[in-house]
Amino acid sequence: MTKDLQIDAGGRLTHLLTLEGLPSKTILEILDTAESFIAVGEREIKKVPLLRGKTVVNLFFEPSTRTRTTFEIAAKRLSADVINLAVAASSTTKGETLLDTVSNLEAMRTDLFVVRHAESGAAHLIAKHLPPNVHLINAGDGRHAHPTQGLLDVFTIRRHKGAFDKLKVALVGDVLHSRVARSDIQALRTLGVKELRVIAPKTLLPTAVETLGVIPFTDMREGLDDVDVVMMLRIQRERMAGAHLPSEQEYFRVYGLTSDKLESAKPDAIVLHPGPMNRGLEIDSAVADGPRSVILPQVTYGIAVRMAVMAMILGGREELPGRRE
Ligand code: CP
Repeated sequence: MTKDLQIDAGGRLTHLLTLEGLPSKTILEILDTAESFIAVGEREIKKVPLLRGKTVVNLFFEPSTRTRTTFEIAAKRLSADVINLAVAASSTTKGETLLDTVSNLEAMRTDLFVVRHAESGAAHLIAKHLPPNVHLINAGDGRHAHPTQGLLDVFTIRRHKGAFDKLKVALVGDVLHSRVARSDIQALRTLGVKELRVIAPKTLLPTAVETLGVIPFTDMREGLDDVDVVMMLRIQRERMAGAHLPSEQEYFRVYGLTSDKLESAKPDAIVLHPGPMNRGLEIDSAVADGPRSVILPQVTYGIAVRMAVMAMILGGREELPGRRE
């Protein structure tokens, strides 16, 4: 079902809703295309005409700093026209349904919606409602998926560490509530990472987490032993109903990434975090701002990755820079 919604009969990406089931060929094509867009961001004139005349609407029903802004920058660098709907000032506050809001924006000849929503499944619901020439990118739906974050994370890992089949990767923290964790796990498994671990207290791990193809650890130092990549996850207080955590001080003591705990990983291990970070809860500032952190490069790469996804969905593939058959 998902695959049919995302990939058309000709094998072309038509929406991006989840990384579950997305073929490695498509993921690699996105990463390779993003690589060619990195150069655009380093030019004095950071613009290419690929999406001239196309209209992109950013529809964010949840707060965002990185995703919303980098989608806007990415669309503008591709020369698209971009509208950011101010949801709090829109007619959704007067009771208009999500699908009615989308239908009205679609009637204004939107070509691509970028949607963030607190409900898992919202992106699929809207994609099913759209006509074939209107496209959607999921910018995060509930606990379900954040596919462009997953893509920019694997792009960052490939740039800094090379081949996935040689890498041991650990995701640390609130796996239970994290759409980023789900998308990262799906992308890393599809790309054939050597070993994939999750490290968290049992209360922050989904039941039967092994079925996702990961090795669970509750001991931070054991889980970090000899890994190449440490992917920290935000504690998602807004999605927690009930007591999943001991005190914040106790959580930081046991699971907060400090320079001392990072000693268990390989000496050249890199540290990622999707943001926003809770400093002093899941990560210490000495690590977040330290030499092994690639947290700000992740944000920069996010622009190129989002340009690649938009260009592949909306642009002619033959026009993409650096395209390989
Ligand atoms: N990583 C991420 O999704 O950040 P924002 O919530 O700021 O978009």
